[in-house]
Amino acid sequence: MKILIKNIKSLVQVEEKIRLKVSGAEMKKLSCIENAWLAIEEDKIVDFGEMKDFPGISDWSNLQMIDATGKLVLPCWCDSHTHLVYAGNRESEFVDRINGLSYEEIFKRGGGILNSAKKLVEATEDELFESAMKKIREVILLGTGAIEIKSGYGLSFEAELKMLRVIKKIKENVSIPVKATFLGAHAVPVGVTKENHIENIINEMLPRIAEEKLAEYCDVFCERNYFSKEETIRILAEANKYGIKGKVHAEQLSHAGGVEAGVASKAISVDHLEFANENDISILKNSETMATILPGAQFFLGLQNPPARKIIDAGLPLAIASDYNPGSCPSGNMNFMISLACINYKLTPEESINAATINSAYAMELSKTHGSIAIGKQANIFITKEIPNYSFIPYSFANNPVETVILNGKIYK
Ligand code: NIG
Ligand code: FE
Repeated sequence: MKILIKNIKSLVQVEEKIRLKVSGAEMKKLSCIENAWLAIEEDKIVDFGEMKDFPGISDWSNLQMIDATGKLVLPCWCDSHTHLVYAGNRESEFVDRINGLSYEEIFKRGGGILNSAKKLVEATEDELFESAMKKIREVILLGTGAIEIKSGYGLSFEAELKMLRVIKKIKENVSIPVKATFLGAHAVPVGVTKENHIENIINEMLPRIAEEKLAEYCDVFCERNYFSKEETIRILAEANKYGIKGKVHAEQLSHAGGVEAGVASKAISVDHLEFANENDISILKNSETMATILPGAQFFLGLQNPPARKIIDAGLPLAIASDYNPGSCPSGNMNFMISLACINYKLTPEESINAATINSAYAMELSKTHGSIAIGKQANIFITKEIPNYSFIPYSFANNPVETVILNGKIYK
């Protein structure tokens, strides 16, 4: 099977040389080819160039031609942080917050993550699978072509395994790469002490998860009233022993040392960062850890802005993900996430597109195969509707710019 896309108004995020991430001032650059063509064979990008240099077609067999006049082609979004396996929703807490309660107050009353944990215990694996698949199909049609999914609404050993098995089944049933993250340290379950929960994570859950190969990453919610910097380091060190790399929910509601813990643990990414400070930025400079912002969660909870501009201006790379979850971001629309980053944090469209493609691919260790248009990379792309240029995507907020999604060399329907 071959696909040829012709007359592309602009082929966006083209790479001559494959890069694993883009940092600092480089993020302001987005390579494009105007009036371009792109050829796909099987599941790979095999060639592209300007229409004026188009070599013509020698072999018409099994060739599907797409005319993209007036349309753009981009690599699919990479969403490196989601919790999209969950049961039910939490719109009543949304109303509580409108009426004045804070996210932390709701948690202290037994709501928040514990509310989702209660609902998850009652749901069957099949129900969780079906509802997560529905969400994934929706976000794929919004341009998402790779996704990370966390456990963390199970909390007990059994329920965490249930979540991770659902994620495994999703992996086997979708046409985009899925990375699984074990987030047992999301909250302390009811009726257990924190010390016991951490012991369970370390002595029971991690060995079993490693044995069954149920997770690529291990995450910790490093936050006051949840897990401390020291506890985060301890849990991630245990995970590292099994080759399970770390991720951290860091500095979301307060400054709790998550960035420091993540960098010390060689975490793949530290995410949220609303309360990250200058010292955190200098700590990140000496690391390979990807700073990741989740603009939807910050917007939905009305938190202060993360220092996104300062991070890029310090020469660091920055990634954008959705955080799709029932408590702090009930949307996985990456088009909207990049709009928020431009509008609220003053990222340029180039910076936000780099952050939501190549850099968020890095935060899932997928940037060798995803996150840009390059020969040999996976044919994981979308064609937009007729739009004037790539800045129109964040500009036209809350609209869907995506018309056609191509995954593994096939049009996704
Ligand atoms: O990334 N901050 C911790 N975890 C999620 C929210 C979890 C929830 O409220 O269900 C987050 O924002
Ligand atoms: Fe999260």
